[in-house]
Amino acid sequence: MKIMLGALWLCLSTGVLAEKMKWERAQFNYKMFCQGCHSPDGTGANSVPRMKDNIGYFLEIPAGREYLVRVPGSATSALNDRDLAEVLNWIISEFSGDSADENYERYTAGEIARLRVHPLNELEHYRTELLVQIATAKSKE
Ligand code: HEC
Repeated sequence: MKIMLGALWLCLSTGVLAEKMKWERAQFNYKMFCQGCHSPDGTGANSVPRMKDNIGYFLEIPAGREYLVRVPGSATSALNDRDLAEVLNWIISEFSGDSADENYERYTAGEIARLRVHPLNELEHYRTELLVQIATAKSKE
């Protein structure tokens, strides 16, 4: 019994440790690769949109979810698929405030790989168009 409990504890604690490592790696990658433009707390500046308290709204519609990956800062970043998935999940968990549900569907490396090969070029109108679609979807809820 003792051994079983010990094994269980070991499994649980390595699981917790692995999650902690992923979180810290994502935080580090955000600092290294995104924060320069997006600011430490996701507020943004000038032409860099505010992610803080807003970013989760994009998850409301499939095209919005895809947009967060296909935007050039994400799609063409030096991060590999796993790390980019982690950073986006970190950004959403850290910055979205009430805009995302706590149990939002996490990005996976596979989803990132599939989407980032289609980076967006024309952004301004596309983003505005998405926000209109999201507002329409929300008003029907
Ligand atoms: C050189 C500056 C720069 C860097 C570095 C950068 N971004 Fe961005 N990001 C932007 C700008 C500017 C926009 C607005 C859309 C556009 O014009 O590309 C944006 C938009 C975004 C958006 C969409 C937000 C919205 O509300 O429309 C996401 C998500 C994003 N970036 C993620 C990232 C991630 C993740 C990284 C780091 C791996 C990153 N960006 C690095 C400049 C940057």
